[in-house]
Amino acid sequence: MLPTNKEHWGTKIGLVLAMAGNAVGLGNFLRFPVQAIQNGGSAFIIPYFICFLLMGIPLLWVEWSMGRFGAKHNQHNLPSILQLFVQYRWIRFLGVFSLFTNIVVAAYYTYIESWTLAYLYYALIQKFSGQTLQEVQHYFDSFRSWNHYEGILFWLITCLLNVYILSKGIQKGIEATAKLLMPMLILFAISLAIFALSFQKGDFGAIHAGIVGFDYLWTPDFSGIWKPKVWLAAAGQIFFTLALGMGTIQCYAAYMKKEEDIALNAMASGWLNEFVEIVLGASIIIPICVGFLGLNKIHEWAQLGGMGLSFKVLPYLFSQWGILLGTLTGLFWFGALFFAGITSSLAMGLPITSFLSDHFAWPPKKGAFLFGTLIFLLGIPCILSPKIFDEFDFWAGSFSLVLFAVIEIILFSWVWGIDKAWNEINLNAKIKIPYPFKFIIHKVTPVFLITIFIANIPGLIQKLIEETTIDVVIARLLMVLLFLLGLWAIYKT
Ligand code: TRP
Ligand code: TRP
Repeated sequence: MLPTNKEHWGTKIGLVLAMAGNAVGLGNFLRFPVQAIQNGGSAFIIPYFICFLLMGIPLLWVEWSMGRFGAKHNQHNLPSILQLFVQYRWIRFLGVFSLFTNIVVAAYYTYIESWTLAYLYYALIQKFSGQTLQEVQHYFDSFRSWNHYEGILFWLITCLLNVYILSKGIQKGIEATAKLLMPMLILFAISLAIFALSFQKGDFGAIHAGIVGFDYLWTPDFSGIWKPKVWLAAAGQIFFTLALGMGTIQCYAAYMKKEEDIALNAMASGWLNEFVEIVLGASIIIPICVGFLGLNKIHEWAQLGGMGLSFKVLPYLFSQWGILLGTLTGLFWFGALFFAGITSSLAMGLPITSFLSDHFAWPPKKGAFLFGTLIFLLGIPCILSPKIFDEFDFWAGSFSLVLFAVIEIILFSWVWGIDKAWNEINLNAKIKIPYPFKFIIHKVTPVFLITIFIANIPGLIQKLIEETTIDVVIARLLMVLLFLLGLWAIYKT
């Protein structure tokens, strides 16, 4: 088998779909709608779009062009890529974020992904038909516990599937998967959105028409627009959904051909993600829940989070709609989630396998196996304790993304220099990037990111001085250990 360090993406459409697959994930369908509801409905969309414009788009170009610059020097791992921009050797240690963040996030992310696979199977066997809402909710609670045999089995299968695809390398593994699953995902999600926006009051027992929930989500509430909390939520969502600040984009882009465009490709995959998030993500779960559960209860229900709504409420509703429609909606929903999930978790694996292949000549198989083992081991504590899960999500899934983004933009546009950076971004560009973006990337984005970072600090301190339980301590120890392990691995290169 070809070592990953000689490979590249086979086609342009393959590259864009793989990158979109990285971005489009569980975050689009489960995290976004709930964030939007909790932060003022369409008042959320204003900070969200400003964050997309001033932070998301510039960082996409920065990360893509760092990756392609790595490709020119045959480097596909963040530690070595950072070294290309700054002469000091210690700079490579900052690349530890690409190892640390991806492994920790993948540990809990792959676990959620395994629920979607299990529930896909349940939809096909009509497991929940005839059950009450309480029974369906109770099932999910027991499904999540460590001694639930099927839950563990599906999780194992999901880990193995990831390892299997990663071990096939770029073209035959990740690219082939994205080309197959992304179109299906979009088809499934569009069908569900059409259904969710078109059912009428009274259809299948609906209390409201589907469009009522849509209106609810998009009715402006400006009361929150000046609250820092809303802005932090919007910035956090942009980071998570675009997969920024974690080294996955750089790693994917490092397998491009040197002469390929990034300006247009980055926009194609970024906007595809926004379409799936804003148009499709917002048009399924909330309209269905509002339509069938009622408007006055939605805030109460939103407390369940995206995951609660998706696994405790939707399967019950689907089962009420009869065999044909119920199975079809279940298949489409959990299928779309699973496809979205796996194309993202693969992206979390590649930085690990590439690092090992670049520096230690490990074949993809061996690297994928190590990745699978690590996420399996780190997944166990997530299963045992929801607090550990949340702790991983907080430090790896939100804090380190912003921290690393601050570091990379300073390195790229200040230390390396904005003129070189701008030329690199525009090299072989298929579209003309508006000139103001030079100023934005140079001044606005770094200042914006630093502000977001500082605004995060009070929450951080509060988190640290809060009463800590034993699970929280274990979670933090595990993360410190993993961070040190990453530093040690980089030291060995
Ligand atoms: N963007 C994905 C989502 O919306 C999540 C994701 C993809 C991610 N790659 C990542 C998160 C790497 C952390 C690290 O669900
Ligand atoms: N925990 C939140 C919920 O239940 C949202 C969330 C956080 C999430 N991290 C996530 C959803 C990762 C999907 C993927 O909705």
